[in-house]
Amino acid sequence: MSETVKEMFGRIAPTYDLANRVLSARRDVAWRRAALRLLQAPPGDVLDLACGTFDLALEAIASGHALRVHGCDFSLPMLKAGTAKRSATAISAAAGDALHLPYASGAFDAAMVAYGWRNFGDPAGSLAELARVLKPRGEILILEFFRPVRLWPKVFYGTFGRVMMPLVGGLVSGDRAAYTYLNASITTFVSIDEAEALLRGAGFGQLRRHACFGGVSHALAATKEA
Ligand SMILES: C[S@@+](CC[C@H](N)C(=O)[O-])C[C@H]1O[C@@H](n2cnc3c(N)ncnc32)[C@H](O)[C@@H]1O
Repeated sequence: MSETVKEMFGRIAPTYDLANRVLSARRDVAWRRAALRLLQAPPGDVLDLACGTFDLALEAIASGHALRVHGCDFSLPMLKAGTAKRSATAISAAAGDALHLPYASGAFDAAMVAYGWRNFGDPAGSLAELARVLKPRGEILILEFFRPVRLWPKVFYGTFGRVMMPLVGGLVSGDRAAYTYLNASITTFVSIDEAEALLRGAGFGQLRRHACFGGVSHALAATKEA
């Protein structure tokens, strides 16, 4: 499963940013910005797991929520596609898997994941690994498309997600299967309430959430309790 996902992101890496902008009508930029506002601690060393082409990392630096961002992703083509964007910034990059992060315990003041958690295959295991690399009282921020449970998000994913995502994503990237996977990975993932329960189970408290576009996407932040 993880090798298939890795290969898929490798294939769509060159057109990834363009497909995001087209499919979301540029709303993805505002959603990352809104998510970062859930962070409460002063800026420090921040992990951007599943950083892709560094859009969240760049926004975190620009908005003053991070002094330094350490981007990590298991897809080298995705990291490469974002290289020019992060040059001359305080953003570093490393190849690594979400379930075995290449960092020491307690290395980060905050850790964030935008649209990556769904792909890790082990939601609880990846949270445990994120908790490990956070300092005590460190913050976690997750921006994700959770399984829809309310009417509007269900209608959105049952129509736009099922039909337009594969069609438009396929046209932009030349890889319709990748954008069919995108909708399937959303409608089979955990709901926002289940995500909060997983965060509590991993030792996080002080949960904060923000709904984007009426709940089509959500940002979740929490603080490591011990
Ligand atoms: C939808 S993209 C999100 C990229 C970026 N965070 C953004 O906001 O645009 C998901 C990213 O997760 C990465 N990814 C998926 N599974 C991973 C894993 N197990 N370990 C590390 N990265 C992973 C993919 O390579 C891809 O770059």
